Amino acid sequence: MSKANRKILVTSALPYANGPIHLGHMLEYIQTDIWSRYQKLRGHECYYICADDAHGTPIMLKAQQLGITPEEMIKQTQIEHEADFAGFGIGFDNYHSTHSDENREMASKIYLALRDAGHIKTKVISQLFDPEKEMFLPDRFVKGTCPTCKSEDQYGDNCDNCGATYSPTDLINPKSAVSGATPIMKDSEHYFFDLPAFEDMLKEWTRSGSLQEEMANKLAEWFETGLSQWDISRDNPYFGFEIPDAPGKFFYVWLDAPIGYMGSLKNLCDKTAGLNFDDFWKKDSDAEVYHFIGKDIVYFHSLFWPAMLEGAGYRKPTNVFAHGYVKVNGEKMSKSKGTFIKARTYLDNLQPEYLRYYYAAKLNDRIDDLDLNLEDFTQRVNSDLIGKLINIASRTAGFITKRFDGKLASNIDNDLFNQFTAKADTIAALYEGREFGKAMREIMALADVANAYIAEQAPWQLVKDEATQAQAHEVCSLAINLFKVLLTYLKPVLPTLCEKVESFIGVELTWDAINNQLVDHQIAPFKALMQRIDPKHVEQMVEDSKQSLEAQAPVVEEKPQVNHLEVDPIAPTITFDEFAKVDLRIARIAKAEHVKKANKLLRLELDLGGDTKQVFAGIKSAYAPEDIEGKLTVMVANLAPREMSFGVSEGMVLAAGPGGKDLFILEPHQGAEPGMKVK
Ligand code: 2FM
Ligand code: ZN
Repeated sequence: MSKANRKILVTSALPYANGPIHLGHMLEYIQTDIWSRYQKLRGHECYYICADDAHGTPIMLKAQQLGITPEEMIKQTQIEHEADFAGFGIGFDNYHSTHSDENREMASKIYLALRDAGHIKTKVISQLFDPEKEMFLPDRFVKGTCPTCKSEDQYGDNCDNCGATYSPTDLINPKSAVSGATPIMKDSEHYFFDLPAFEDMLKEWTRSGSLQEEMANKLAEWFETGLSQWDISRDNPYFGFEIPDAPGKFFYVWLDAPIGYMGSLKNLCDKTAGLNFDDFWKKDSDAEVYHFIGKDIVYFHSLFWPAMLEGAGYRKPTNVFAHGYVKVNGEKMSKSKGTFIKARTYLDNLQPEYLRYYYAAKLNDRIDDLDLNLEDFTQRVNSDLIGKLINIASRTAGFITKRFDGKLASNIDNDLFNQFTAKADTIAALYEGREFGKAMREIMALADVANAYIAEQAPWQLVKDEATQAQAHEVCSLAINLFKVLLTYLKPVLPTLCEKVESFIGVELTWDAINNQLVDHQIAPFKALMQRIDPKHVEQMVEDSKQSLEAQAPVVEEKPQVNHLEVDPIAPTITFDEFAKVDLRIARIAKAEHVKKANKLLRLELDLGGDTKQVFAGIKSAYAPEDIEGKLTVMVANLAPREMSFGVSEGMVLAAGPGGKDLFILEPHQGAEPGMKVK
């Protein structure tokens, strides 16, 4: 299944250095940590690295509010982040910061390589500017009235009330969220990375790996919409790295953030003998590189990042694994309900491995959201970990200590033992494929088998009779051996429990030793390995979360609000007058043809009874060009022309259906003539 001695670099997304780690973040770190611990357990050379994402306007402004320098703030935040991760047993091989010498060097190097290869362009653009603070305003720092629903105090990129997305210049009565001043428009030269130049390479890259289905679909959609030049510069004042050949201009935080993966590895290599940066990142590297990320940042990791790497002469990631969001009790995490739970608040109340297990039990290889239902969490952990797993040892180990001097029997039943070890390859494949939930179910099914065996043999009865002492000894010894196999399987998920178990049974739990039976072997007296969750502690955690977040300002993140891998929501309502502006016309499909390199689009020439318009329509999955030439359809005739990578689209054809082959263009009949208005 897996080749021997793999060299693997694993990353989680870099958390912003202006806010605390919460249980939403922890899903990703736990997922990645389990995967990297699994790789290490299999003997592969695996490095799990991360860093704080320290740059950007929100960080600069938060430090100003606190009256400290950004450097002081990010230093303090990093200490807190690292403590939280350590608390959850996240075993990073290195944790660094994007505000580091290594990252500055790497970012410059990559930028200069891109520039020298002709992939950087400049253009003067006009943006909202705060005349009091003398700074350009990112979308999230402009507030005003929503142009669609007229709700006040909305951000410059989207409306919390009606969900409309727009540009900050569309806001009615815009104000700077920094100073309250009315922003003005101001020109400035910006630096752009030529993403469209990498379209063919990106298409090839997305085809060559095994991308998650949702990601592949989203990428296909982005390709069809067309890629745009990416603005990678920001003007002074900005907390970040100054662009080497452009004084007063800084790299946009999202340029140097993924380079932070490299910066952190570089930092590790510099302090580790024999570890070589180029082995991982040079163009022809045979190491594997995996990025674990949330679904909101797929665009950055599957388009910008591989294109930057390619353009600057480095290898591209082997794969990018996205996960969904954490919901608590079926809803978005909420501060007022106390379900916006900080990592620290959790750790103050509950054991980290409860959450590691619960997340593992619910994780799969897809991008679905995960529900942390607090009642189910308590019940599942108590039932699986205490009721099933720990129970195997707690019901049998005492007899070994009291009756048999702590020594396991010299002989155990091979059949049951072999049944347990025979699952090793199945469980390994599930870990490798990030199907942790399925792996946990396999393991717990075996725990059920072990418990049924113990109940049937009833060693507590056998020990009472001299004649069945030896049998009692064998039953308990087998149970301890089965326990060892199960804990080895669980080692990536429950490293702290496994440490305790290793001292209890006196051997290290390794995958290679899965078949080794412990016979004639001394074990230590059994001590409680894990306590049940007391629901009171869960309630207390929720209570503490309400209090600890009451006084806290929201954390602003530098991230576009679009590009999420979400199901399309119903668009905000429009007024009748707005609807009346849509000019629907009967059109005759004069010509239809394939578009080179487009998977979904057909190019249509639509005859409006005099006027002809070109439209690119995403109906290729359902129609061949010859099927529709000459047919009538309904089109939006007054849609503003849109520049696509294939040409200008001057309208939209109306079609409905779930997609794929089941997509139907609207076909009017009976007296319809090209150019007629549809009423
Ligand atoms: O979305 C975020 O939280 C970013 N700080 C993630 C950065 S990941 C990488 F690109 F650095
Ligand atoms: Zn609105």
